Amino acid sequence: MYNLRNIIFLLVCLQTIKFCYCKETLAKDLKFKLKSGDLMPMVGLGTSRIKEKENVEDVLDKAFAAGYRLIDTAKLYGNEIYIGEALKILLPKHNLTRRDIFITTKLAPEDLGDKAYEALKDSIQKLNTEYVDLYLIHWPGAADNLNNSIKRDKTWELLAKGVKDGLARNIGVSNFNIRHLNQLLKNDFGVRPAVNQVEWHPNYHQDDLKKFLDKEGILLQAYSSLGGSSNDNLRKNEKVKEIGKKLGKSPVQVLLKWSLQQNNAVIPKATSQKHLEENIDLNFVIPEKDMIILNTFSQKKNSWNSEDID
Ligand SMILES: NC(=O)c1ccc[n+]([C@@H]2O[C@H](COP(=O)([O-])OP(=O)(O)OC[C@H]3O[C@@H](n4cnc5c(N)ncnc54)[C@H](OP(=O)(O)O)[C@@H]3O)[C@@H](O)[C@H]2O)c1
Repeated sequence: MYNLRNIIFLLVCLQTIKFCYCKETLAKDLKFKLKSGDLMPMVGLGTSRIKEKENVEDVLDKAFAAGYRLIDTAKLYGNEIYIGEALKILLPKHNLTRRDIFITTKLAPEDLGDKAYEALKDSIQKLNTEYVDLYLIHWPGAADNLNNSIKRDKTWELLAKGVKDGLARNIGVSNFNIRHLNQLLKNDFGVRPAVNQVEWHPNYHQDDLKKFLDKEGILLQAYSSLGGSSNDNLRKNEKVKEIGKKLGKSPVQVLLKWSLQQNNAVIPKATSQKHLEENIDLNFVIPEKDMIILNTFSQKKNSWNSEDID
């Protein structure tokens, strides 16, 4: 009898340990609480260069099946309308409601200034929704690169109105440096930026900017985490491959986890089921010594540089 009680006790302990172990949050469920109280997925799908209607629907279908709940788009990507059409079909197909997903889109440089509110409404209409979860100023400069800082102020005033009117649940920026952010924070019209989406990977990370964003409670959302679509140098980097081999993970998983482990959100762009599934399967830890190796790569910016934007 005593032995049986011991065995039952042991089994209960083992179950508890198993439960605690399994309780580690899966990457697809990792969320960041924004100042608005909204929970933003830390891993999302980048959709730049995913253009044709069928292609958009196919990728979103696979992405929802794999567990993605955040879609990152922009007026500049030219696919908002296809995403809107795909959502009509895919939300019911995957038993999801609009509130289950998080949509980010971005204001194009040509709309910086007086046109910002109308641009937000236009994106919402194209996306076939009543609101966006996050609306970002894509670039701190205007298309004509004139009076940028005045236009940024006007834009923020209009986007703050967009938040009050329920068109955008959160607003933020992209490609902003500390100078651009300081200007915005001085005159935020009662709504602080939730996110700064910037290029961030082992070959390009702005540590001063990261410190500033952490201090201000602004989430850094990394783009081009895999080094971008134009070349695969980072994905083929020998040191990244070596760390991946040691951990039993692919180079891409190492690159994404490197960002997540610094509390940055990520939005890898992928089209195949294999890539989509791999990019959201990130439940492992990169040891500190390997993080240091990844942190000390030579630095080179791939995407546009906003330093010269006044
Ligand atoms: N705010 C901005 O100014 C800005 C700028 C750039 C990007 N972004 C956003 O960030 C997103 C991601 O950045 P990005 O498009 O520059 O590129 P990225 O995510 O760094 O890389 C995308 C490339 O990696 C490949 N890839 C994806 N998963 C892979 C895997 N598991 N194994 C091997 N290769 C894989 C993709 O191929 P397949 O497509 O064949 O799967 C594609 O060629 C964009 O889509 C966009 O939403 C924002």
